Amino acid sequence: MRLLIRQDYDTVSRWAARYIAEKINEAEDKPFVLGLPTGSSPLGTYRELIALCRAGKVSFAKTITFNMDEYVGLDAAHPQSYHRFMWDNFFSHIDIQKENVHILNGMAKDLAKECALYEEQIRASGGIDLFLGGMGADGHIAFNEPGSSLQSRTRVKTLTMDTKIANARFFDGDISRVPTTALTVGVGTVMDAREVLIIVSGHNKARALKASVEEGINHIWTLSCLQAHPHAIIVCDEAATDELKVGTVRYFKDIEG
Ligand code: GLP
Repeated sequence: MRLLIRQDYDTVSRWAARYIAEKINEAEDKPFVLGLPTGSSPLGTYRELIALCRAGKVSFAKTITFNMDEYVGLDAAHPQSYHRFMWDNFFSHIDIQKENVHILNGMAKDLAKECALYEEQIRASGGIDLFLGGMGADGHIAFNEPGSSLQSRTRVKTLTMDTKIANARFFDGDISRVPTTALTVGVGTVMDAREVLIIVSGHNKARALKASVEEGINHIWTLSCLQAHPHAIIVCDEAATDELKVGTVRYFKDIEG
């Protein structure tokens, strides 16, 4: 697992966007399968990718996307649904084809069937080339809350109080309006991607970053699963390193520049 430390959120975002654009360009005519997150962490990266697309430096015409997660019970038009988030902040501004976008349907009648179908669609597309992600302050990846199986696949998860408190900011600060369950790809689904790139920014993520990088692989800090991935990169800003050991920071700065 690589840990890249950049000065601030903007430099992290620029680095991540350029890395993704490079991978899409390297795929040339082959469809590139990209896993995507929501949240504030990827917003800067989406802005940079939109700029690169507008400048003609990358095209998403052959990109197939799979989003990580979606709330149960919010329809695609709901202002806080991850469908809306993705179209408002990214898809509407790039040259992606609508039929190549995949987002779990939190309104599906049979949620287990929806999750199984999603796994099938990922398989049928040839698997995910690069999974972009963020991390919750409790170390979760997608909605794989503490205690999630590291072998888990796409399924329904109950959100923890920590996550509901963190996400209440999108629901006028009202925790009671935050959905209590979500559909999410599993830790195993993320681990199957050929590459994983995680964006971590801010002091409030420092404790989780420390646990995920310096402690062992465990199901409480689910991002720690990346330690076992052959091609995983965490790109973080200085503020997120506040809890890392001096030696850890020096080591990664030394080998990564
Ligand atoms: C939610 C999402 C995660 C995201 C996390 C952190 O729980 N399901 O995919 O990584 O929030 O969000 P933020 O980037 O806003 O801190």
